[in-house]
Amino acid sequence: MKKYNFSAGPAVLPREVIEKAAASVLNYNNSGFSILEVSHRSKDVVAAMDQAIALVKELYGLSDEYEVLFLQGGASTQFFQIPMNFLNEEETAGYINTGAWSKKAIKDAKAYGKVNVVASSEEQNFNYIPKNISIPSDLKYLHYTSNNTIFGTQFQSLPETDVRLICDMSSDIFSKPIDVSRFDLIYAGAQKNMGPAGVTLVIVKKSALGTVSRYVPVMLDYRTHIENVSMYNTPPVFAMYVFYVNIAVDQR
Ligand SMILES: Cc1ncc(COP(=O)(O)O)c(C=O)c1O
Repeated sequence: MKKYNFSAGPAVLPREVIEKAAASVLNYNNSGFSILEVSHRSKDVVAAMDQAIALVKELYGLSDEYEVLFLQGGASTQFFQIPMNFLNEEETAGYINTGAWSKKAIKDAKAYGKVNVVASSEEQNFNYIPKNISIPSDLKYLHYTSNNTIFGTQFQSLPETDVRLICDMSSDIFSKPIDVSRFDLIYAGAQKNMGPAGVTLVIVKKSALGTVSRYVPVMLDYRTHIENVSMYNTPPVFAMYVFYVNIAVDQR
């Protein structure tokens, strides 16, 4: 009997997706191989990835200024990969502290540059989303967590500012239309709204990259993954494939 798991994540996948994923483990697209054995550079895998990227672009109506990446290390890796790629030591980034995940992002950002926590609901155990926030205009970016998975609070609109936005949308991505043009980067671990754990979706504005002077390790530089269409190293093919099947089923 199928049982439903209502926890925040990893979340339930449609039966059709599970069946297709299971079939691909036994015999991927009648290739005679399991998807667990095929090369990430094989024709069918590359085609599935290309379609997954196209579907994400279609869902959010992304312009060519944005790239869609499938990365590893979970949303938690984005906590440090973002400031490493976006924030010079002498620059200041704004962070809104609305829960455990924001706190972790703030902690990591402090290792790379200056952090201005422009608003926080910590004094009331994160039971509200701060309003009427005063946001300096000279911030490199403003980071927030659109839905606070643990505390159950959610931003109902984008922060009011001209500062470029960066958002952890791990637990509400694709739940509503958003104006992506306000963002330099959006990230989300797949396991809540999109697929299985093991892959993190990153949507990044190309022109916002390349502004830091520090050395960024090749594997952590977003431009590496743009140039290599998320296949610089061996990607988690199965997780990416299930992501693709799920998003394709959802879109029908
Ligand atoms: C809002 C939010 N951000 C980040 C994370 C961490 O994601 P990951 O486990 O993919 O590193 C979670 C996980 O529950 C989350 O809910």
